[in-house]
Amino acid sequence: MIRPPVGLANADSDARLLHGVIEILSAGLDLDGIAQGVADLITETTSTDVCFVHLLDPAGDRLHLRGATPPFDRLARRIELPIGEGISGWVAAHCQPVVITDNKRDDPRYRYIPELRGEEFISMASVPMITRPGDLVGVLNVHTRDRRDFTEADVDLLSSVAGLMAGAIENARLHSRLAEREAAMERFAEQIVLLQETERRRLAGEIHDGISQRIVSLSFHLSAAADAVSSDPASAAEQIARAQELAAGALDETRTAIAGLRPPVLDDLGLAASLESLARSTPLPNVHVDTVSTVLPEHVETAVYRIAQEALQNVMKHASAAHVQLRLSIATGAVLLEISDDGVGFDPANTPERAGPVGYGMPGMQQRAELLGGQLTADSTPGRGTVVRLKIPLPADH
Ligand SMILES: Nc1ncnc2c1ncn2[C@@H]1O[C@H](COP(=O)(O)OP(=O)(O)OP(=O)(O)O)[C@@H](O)[C@H]1O
Ligand SMILES: [Mg+2]
Repeated sequence: MIRPPVGLANADSDARLLHGVIEILSAGLDLDGIAQGVADLITETTSTDVCFVHLLDPAGDRLHLRGATPPFDRLARRIELPIGEGISGWVAAHCQPVVITDNKRDDPRYRYIPELRGEEFISMASVPMITRPGDLVGVLNVHTRDRRDFTEADVDLLSSVAGLMAGAIENARLHSRLAEREAAMERFAEQIVLLQETERRRLAGEIHDGISQRIVSLSFHLSAAADAVSSDPASAAEQIARAQELAAGALDETRTAIAGLRPPVLDDLGLAASLESLARSTPLPNVHVDTVSTVLPEHVETAVYRIAQEALQNVMKHASAAHVQLRLSIATGAVLLEISDDGVGFDPANTPERAGPVGYGMPGMQQRAELLGGQLTADSTPGRGTVVRLKIPLPADH
């Protein structure tokens, strides 16, 4: 009887292999670390010559080589296969193992990839990496230079390793998605604090420079009136009249400061009519407005209005445009705002750094959009005009 080479299904090496796999998986490595570590270990412990670990991409339609026995490890992330193509693609599509003892070129499923030097290897086994709930994560392949009959027990062992890896890879993916979300939440919280700070600074500025200055003068005129009231009633009356003017001015400034928080026009007219009135109030020559009447959450309306305001300001300040178009629309689950002009344009990659982190021009618009989970883009080329596009997702009941 010919003894099979020491290798896959052999009690000692099985134990070593599984032990090694568990060590790699519990080391908390990232996807590439796991794929590479397992590829090395499988080749070391199974008398195979090379191991390839292909992982399914997040879209689920291609396999990417992520780990391989040296010297093929340098090809990691550089080889990809559509599902259904080649042996690995077939294994991924059917979620079933494949064993080829020799003449793999005769197998219609085989696809030759020159970098993987298939001509140097005679036999191969390929198993799907499937999680316990049954999701495909990738495909694990082993190849031998000499002819080798992979037994059912060999395939079972490889499938166990592949299953362990599948679980760990799924965990690593979930973990990195969670970490991304956490980082996004942190950024979000930071932006809220910054935005609040900016709003506070703006209010403080308006109260300090406008309202309190007027109240100081007002109180000065009232004292003068009190002093003059019996000796010089005419002068007292004049002082009181000045004080009244200042009180009216302070009231106006207070209104403006409050309007900075939520433009009152939104409550009076709604978003669509407010945007129309905003566009009409600009001194721009040809402003074309196209809106839909809609009721959105207050904070979304405020953001859209403020962004439109700044975008129109920018057209006035920078564009020298002959035509401007403002369009508000609702698409599936999102509100869209577009402000385009045919002015001088600019190079968005080359705008000067703004003084503050939020609240100034473009970065302020961007942050308002991001805070609501939306996006703001400015497409512009010098000489070709500018289009500012805003998209904010709406809550499900809209
Ligand atoms: N519609 C536009 N047409 C031409 N250039 C524009 C337009 N919008 C923005 N820009 C360019 O982008 C730059 C950045 O705009 P941003 O609104 O951030 O700053 P700003 O308008 O210069 O100052 P701020 O808005 O802080 O008062 C502008 O300085 C201008 O060069
Ligand atoms: Mg600006």
